Amino acid sequence: MLEELLSQLNTIRDEALAALENAKTEADIEAVKNRTIGRSGAITALSPMMGKIPPENKKQAGMAFNEVKVAITTALEAAREKTASSAAAASAIDVTMPGRRPHAGRKHPVSQTIEECCAIFRRMGFVAVSGPELEDIWHNFDALNAPLSHPSRDVKDTFYLSDGRLLRTQTSAVQIRTMEKEKPPIRIISPGRCYRRDTPDATHGVHFHQIEGLYIDTDVSLADLKTTLMTFASEYFGREIAVRMRPSFFPFTEPSVECDFSCVMCGGKGCNVCKNSGWLEIAGAGMVNPKVLENVGYDPKEVRGFAFGFGLERLAMLKHRINDLRLFSDNDVRFLYQF
Ligand code: PHE
Repeated sequence: MLEELLSQLNTIRDEALAALENAKTEADIEAVKNRTIGRSGAITALSPMMGKIPPENKKQAGMAFNEVKVAITTALEAAREKTASSAAAASAIDVTMPGRRPHAGRKHPVSQTIEECCAIFRRMGFVAVSGPELEDIWHNFDALNAPLSHPSRDVKDTFYLSDGRLLRTQTSAVQIRTMEKEKPPIRIISPGRCYRRDTPDATHGVHFHQIEGLYIDTDVSLADLKTTLMTFASEYFGREIAVRMRPSFFPFTEPSVECDFSCVMCGGKGCNVCKNSGWLEIAGAGMVNPKVLENVGYDPKEVRGFAFGFGLERLAMLKHRINDLRLFSDNDVRFLYQF
């Protein structure tokens, strides 16, 4: 009789523990309780058997009843805790919520413009080079044939250091550095920052970026310059652009020209961007002055070339319709994140 009782109790306990192991909800747990230690559960149903147990075995039977009840009660408790904590975890994390976009940095619009320009010129065979922003007078002025009386040399226009060096006023200094080091043919583009003592406004800043181009070979003409600029402009602005040249003056080019692009907004019909002229002043350019070629040790009878330079911010402003140069250096992320 005792054997029979113990084996039934064990079966009920093993079944209950296994069921609780897999219980997922409060209801699963209650069901286990009801069919085991509950008022009409299997264990309760076994109590009448106690009456048939011989007296010498009663104590052992009673203990077995207790042990099984305690085992089941403990397992019920553990199962309740487990489902409660997983329910809490489930409500704390809403896996359907959209994720937060991490704040990744991005390239400054000026850097993007530099890269875009360099890529276009690279396809035409120009190699990008750079030079120091802290220049000497030779590379920034003397070698470029700037007369001693040239207004740009004035301390009112240029930032000088006490040792006589200066913050370069133009990337043209890189022309000289390249020609001093290398033999023709030369085909370079040099983007970089320049400094001038200007009063900052919507189109002027004390620092800005230029991109300089230089092409030296035995047979180079103004027509090559025009084609180069036309090809560049059409690629950069993504539409057919015409180039117009007007006579101008730079100490380091002869002849010198001012290059206008047909208006990138209206295509030349006239609009408020080109002030109804159909043209935009973009680049200074010309054929490299023979004196400059001599200054770097080239023979002007053997080689010649063209040079051009323009403001990078101006290009970016036209392309992205930005109306104030100062936005590029204000570092307002609301502006910068648009690029
Ligand atoms: N360096 C000139 C400027 O800053 C532009 C230029 C470059 C003109 C190359 C001619 C040739 O105004």
